[in-house]
Amino acid sequence: MELQEAFIVTASCLGFISVCKALVNFLRWVWVMFLRSPKNLKEYGSWAIITGSTDGIGKALAFELASKGLNIVLVGRNPLKLEATSNEIREKYSHKQVEIKSIVVDLSKASGKEIARTIKEGIKGLDVGILINNAGMSYPFARFFHEVDSELMENMLKVNMEAPTWVTRAVLPGMLKKKKGAIVNIGSASSKHPSLPLYTLYAATKLYIKIFARCINLEYKQHGIDIQCQVPHFVATKMTEDLKKSVPLVVATLERFTKASIRCIGYEHLCNPYWLHSVEWSIVHAAPDALVNAITFWICRGIRKSGQMKECVTVKRCSN
Ligand SMILES: NC(=O)c1ccc[n+]([C@@H]2O[C@H](COP(=O)([O-])OP(=O)(O)OC[C@H]3O[C@@H](n4cnc5c(N)ncnc54)[C@H](OP(=O)(O)O)[C@@H]3O)[C@@H](O)[C@H]2O)c1
Repeated sequence: MELQEAFIVTASCLGFISVCKALVNFLRWVWVMFLRSPKNLKEYGSWAIITGSTDGIGKALAFELASKGLNIVLVGRNPLKLEATSNEIREKYSHKQVEIKSIVVDLSKASGKEIARTIKEGIKGLDVGILINNAGMSYPFARFFHEVDSELMENMLKVNMEAPTWVTRAVLPGMLKKKKGAIVNIGSASSKHPSLPLYTLYAATKLYIKIFARCINLEYKQHGIDIQCQVPHFVATKMTEDLKKSVPLVVATLERFTKASIRCIGYEHLCNPYWLHSVEWSIVHAAPDALVNAITFWICRGIRKSGQMKECVTVKRCSN
């Protein structure tokens, strides 16, 4: 065979393999997003515990899990919001006879050990099968690292990193004993992006939660415990209320995101549950990092500017 011919055959083979690989990946993606049946979550245990379940994603997940007949432990800092959420779920799913329990704890104020103790006492005697570490916070708007005031910084480190670590520590032994369970950490797509300037601390805390989930998944998978980190892009909650206008990305409704999120529980250790977010991620991933960094920085500067203007107007209004 001549050299030229050999080159053409090799290039064609490589091309064919690449096309096959892309096709297999695409078919797998379709299967995971739309066709794969969700796990029977009740098999993990009859109770699910969700932190930050009085608003946004956590609250919507509590409703979704209750609709599957799971009893729910709500974890929140505001007793009134906890009671209102309990009543709403009970009312909506009275026919499912779900039980609701609340644990009051401020994850930014209590120490790690206090959080673990409160959770342990709260779930004593319950067959907890699912833990969702959802509570999280971000900046009110984008800002440079030195502009983050120390209280906000402390609270964010506690709520986004310390709290899920200690809550997991409190819930895991029960799962280990019965050799089954599922833990979901709600991370963020920011942990997969090349960077998120002006949200540095938020992105860094979400990267922590991602590697935390990945490592303990390896430690406990052999004991029947499925641990994963879900990394959503934008979801319509109070956290993203002001961002929606400035960011040219898909904003999933709470209903769409939570349905997709529940379908993923127990599968991959890292997942982007909502299909449009996943497409969005593929586009970002395909672009050069330098371009993504430049665009992200430009968008975040815009968010910072409009946030500052809004803050100025509020301060002026308050002082008048
Ligand atoms: N929304 C998005 O686009 C998006 C995207 C990626 C990742 N995420 C992640 O998803 C999770 C939920 O976000 P979300 O958008 O649903 O936020 P959200 O609407 O602001 O709700 C946050 C929940 O966490 C609770 N929480 C906050 N600080 C707390 C504290 N110190 N102690 C106890 N509970 C506390 C809140 O309680 P209160 O009801 O008392 O305020 C609320 O229930 C977060 O981890 C966030 O980082 C969100």
